[in-house]
Amino acid sequence: MIHPSEIAKMFEQEPLACWNGERLPLSEVRVSVLDRGFLFGDAIYEVIRVYSGKPFLFQDHLNRIQRNLEKMSLPADLGSIQRWIEETISASGFVEASVYIHVTRGVAPRTHRFPDPPPTPNVLIYVAAFHDSYSQFRHSGASVVVVPDQRWKRCDIKSVNLLANCFASEMAHQQGCAEALLSDDSGKLSEGSRSSLFGVKDSVVLTAPLGENILPGITRRLIQQLCEECQLEMREETIHQSQLDEIDELFLTATTMEILPVTRVDDQPIGDGQIGPVSRQLVDAYQKHIERFRNET
Ligand code: PDD
Repeated sequence: MIHPSEIAKMFEQEPLACWNGERLPLSEVRVSVLDRGFLFGDAIYEVIRVYSGKPFLFQDHLNRIQRNLEKMSLPADLGSIQRWIEETISASGFVEASVYIHVTRGVAPRTHRFPDPPPTPNVLIYVAAFHDSYSQFRHSGASVVVVPDQRWKRCDIKSVNLLANCFASEMAHQQGCAEALLSDDSGKLSEGSRSSLFGVKDSVVLTAPLGENILPGITRRLIQQLCEECQLEMREETIHQSQLDEIDELFLTATTMEILPVTRVDDQPIGDGQIGPVSRQLVDAYQKHIERFRNET
C-alpha cells in the first residue's frame, strides 16, 4: 500500500479534502473497498476552476451535478455539496485552484443492481493548487490525433467510467500529442477525450449538437455566449473526419484547459497550420471574461 506521506509528496502542495463534510488532508481520506464507485465506477464527478479564490461558473457546475445525480438516481444533497465546496475552497487558502467533486452510490455488498435500501452516497471534494499544463500549447497551437470513440452510450452523464477516455488520452500522449479527438464508426468527431471540440469554417463556429454521445460542457456554453458577444455565428453541426482538410480552424475547450487552439491533426496542418483569427478572438474574449470575473465583488 502507498503510504499517505507518498500521496502527499505527489503534489507540490497537498490538496485539502472534504470527505462527507469532514475537512482533512487528501492523503488522510479513507474509503471502503465496498464503495460502489471503487467496485463499479458507480459515481459521478465534476471539475470546477477557481480564479482569485472564487469558483468560476459555479451555478452552471452545480446545475450539472444536480442533473447527473438525477440521471443516476443518486440521493445526494446538492445544498450540502455546495456548502462543502465553498468551505473547502476558503479553508484551503488556494487562490488559483481546481476543485474535484466525486459522488458515489456509497458502500453496500457487491450486487450489480442498485442496493435496496439505498446506501448513503459518499461525497469527496478536494481543492488543489492549479498548475496550467496547457500554456505552452496555447501559444504554439496543439497537435492532436483521431482515435475511435470506444465509450459507452451515455456520455452526457459525467460518470467516473473513463477507461475509454484514458485509452484515447494515452494514445495521444504516446504520439506526442496534447489530446485525442474521438471519432464514431461513421467518422463523425464527437469531442475530445476530456474536452469539447469546435471547428471554424468561413468564420462560422461549428460544434456537435448536445446528445447522449457528448458531455454538455460548461465551457462549451460559455463559448456560445462569447460568440454572441463577438458577433460570431455559431452552428451546432458535427464535424466529419473527412472535412478536416477543408476546415479553417479547430479548437478544444474544457474547464481547466480553457481554450486550446489545435493546429495539427494526425500530423496534417489545419488551415495554414497557424492559430487562426477566430480562435485568437475567442481566446482573447475568454481571457477578458475571466478578468472581469476576477474583479467582480
Ligand atoms: N473534462 N468532454 C469531455 C469528455 C470531458 O471530460 C470534458 C471535461 C469536457 C469539457 O467539459 P467542461 O467544459 O464542463 O469542463 C468535454 C474534465 C475537465 C475532466 O475530466 O477533468
